[in-house]
Amino acid sequence: MSERKTYYITTPIYYPSDKLHIGHSYTTVAADAMARFKRLTGYDVMFLTGTDEHGQKIERLAREKGVPPKEYVDHIVAGIKKLWEIMDISNDDFIRTTDERHKKVVQKIFKKLYDQGDIYKGVYRGWYCTPCESFWTQRQLVDGNCPDCGRGVELVEEEAYFFKLSKYQDRLIEYIETHDEFIQPASRKNEMLNNFLRPGLEDLCVSRTSFKWGIPVSFDDNHVIYVWIDALSNYLTALGYMTDNDEKYKKYWPADVHLVGKEIVRFHTIIWPIMLMALGQPLPKQVFGHGWLVLDGGKMSKSKGNVVDPVVLVQRYGVDAVRYFLLREVPFGADGVFSNEALINRINSDLANDLGNLLSRTVAMIDKYFDGLLPAPGERADVDAELQKLAVETPGRVETIMNRLEYSNALAEIWKLIGRANKYIDETTPWILAKDDSRRSRLATVLYNLAESLRFISVLISPFLTRTPDKIRQQLGIEDKSLTTWDSLSEFGKLPAGIRVQRGEAVFPRLDVDKELKALEELQGTSEQAVDEKNAADNKEASHIAAEQQDKKEEQEAAEITIDDFAKLDLRVARVINAEPVKKTDKLLKLTLEVGNQTRQVVSGIAKYYKPDELIGKMVILLANLKPVKLRGELSQGMILAATDDSDNLALLTVDREIPGGSKIS
Ligand code: ME8
Ligand code: MG
Repeated sequence: MSERKTYYITTPIYYPSDKLHIGHSYTTVAADAMARFKRLTGYDVMFLTGTDEHGQKIERLAREKGVPPKEYVDHIVAGIKKLWEIMDISNDDFIRTTDERHKKVVQKIFKKLYDQGDIYKGVYRGWYCTPCESFWTQRQLVDGNCPDCGRGVELVEEEAYFFKLSKYQDRLIEYIETHDEFIQPASRKNEMLNNFLRPGLEDLCVSRTSFKWGIPVSFDDNHVIYVWIDALSNYLTALGYMTDNDEKYKKYWPADVHLVGKEIVRFHTIIWPIMLMALGQPLPKQVFGHGWLVLDGGKMSKSKGNVVDPVVLVQRYGVDAVRYFLLREVPFGADGVFSNEALINRINSDLANDLGNLLSRTVAMIDKYFDGLLPAPGERADVDAELQKLAVETPGRVETIMNRLEYSNALAEIWKLIGRANKYIDETTPWILAKDDSRRSRLATVLYNLAESLRFISVLISPFLTRTPDKIRQQLGIEDKSLTTWDSLSEFGKLPAGIRVQRGEAVFPRLDVDKELKALEELQGTSEQAVDEKNAADNKEASHIAAEQQDKKEEQEAAEITIDDFAKLDLRVARVINAEPVKKTDKLLKLTLEVGNQTRQVVSGIAKYYKPDELIGKMVILLANLKPVKLRGELSQGMILAATDDSDNLALLTVDREIPGGSKIS
């Protein structure tokens, strides 16, 4: 008896955040498309996702809300599960680090490593970044801040357990050097070797005593287990590792691929493999570090306020459009920019135009020329062979490309077939054939070949677009499930003549770009100004992004302008007569300004730097002719000026003697 090949794929487990953004959906949609692809191509798939719920940050947030941490996370996790339903995520399991099944096994793992001497007790002195839940040594800090996120770190000193990373360092270097496929893309492999492994690993502090919200060390319950040891273990605990019920572990481990964002490759290719080596377990075959979806220069992040809500996009354009965009727009390893405009353009060109039109033209012509019944092919021509050849070759190509996790290229390959089929319509001009009764047999062939190509396309796109394949099949009248399998693509011509097509709604209606952009801006409460203000208010993003922004700033500073350029700015002195926080963000203040005999409302990203009371009465400088925007649902009519430095200081500009509000600055 031959067993089916297995495939185990994971996403990271997500920190409970009450609004997961499109960046989070990115990893999960990619993992889902791969899981679906592998199922389609015959694998027995295990696709795991979940949530990473312990740690000091959660403990603090729950305390601020006045609820027990578990209650706090339960609510958020329910929302995350809902989001994955909305995104059509087909995960086979959902692991929570607060699950009993997880906690018990993490304790066992910790104990085993302690018993065998890989974990020992010592004193920890050093720096801790709470948002990242990462320890850092003095020399790893960048300008005194967390090298990953750029935020401030805290000095901690406590009794702690340590994990002997150093003991395994040479084995890991050797493993990475001899297994090219282990860390992908290759650039990330070199980064790990050169920046972390070759300079030498220090033993890792793997317990904390300064807070409680974590998995206790079973033999020393003052200590909770370091969240990354806790979190990484999920990939094994979900399989029943170290329990009586470990068939899944036996079947699926080692994982085929852990998909992770590039900022957590380090944890997955240093701490995790060393844990596995210490446990005597085989290493995952691959850790793939994908890029970030960024919004105007900074990684999307909840704390920056520059997030895009995937639910808004799904409600407006459907889940397939959003999934398609995420997988098609950006090569998977690279960073990519999310913009509403790019999304709308993709929908219009690839989905409405290329795919949507191919279907609607094909169905309409079968309807019109053959009363809705698919004709059997008749007279052949050379041009048919080219289309048929491409159709049967495409599945193999897509499979090769998918095995490299090149989602965007895989879709491009499928779209070549769509493009070829559209071109086939132009070449064969069925509307001209239809005018000539003697060409009826040729017309039948053309329409048959188009319908059969669409059958191929409906199967090929099905890992990526979850809803459209059924819509295509419905319009074509394909009911036989055996015509929707991967194997059914081995041969062109399986579609039976005589099935009844059914004209339906456009699968992707064409969008009016300007109208959509406006609507989205309203819905998302975001704008370029919002992002600029965010960047000013939170210029401590990951160091390379800060460096990029610095370059941009220098470019801008260096560019010369004329006095006419300056005259375009209507700068005014204004008095702050009221200031209050904007709801649902801790970054923005809503200011009421008196400008001459008018009042204006301005939303500004200065909540971190000024208390509302401090501002009232202040004379500030207003850029009065900035196009009004809505930020978090609040109208902002202009922008107030502030100076910032690289250490996250901010000072508002003001005037140095009494002058009436409304005075012009020139
Ligand atoms: O890191 N673009 O969780 P997380 C692309 N709990 N990917 C993004 C993104 C963006 N703008 N924003 C977030 C954690 N992600 C840990 C993982 S695993 C044992 C523990 C991705 O909620 C990010 O790169 O901060 C990561 O892969 C995933 O979302 C979860 O991030
Ligand atoms: Mg993160």
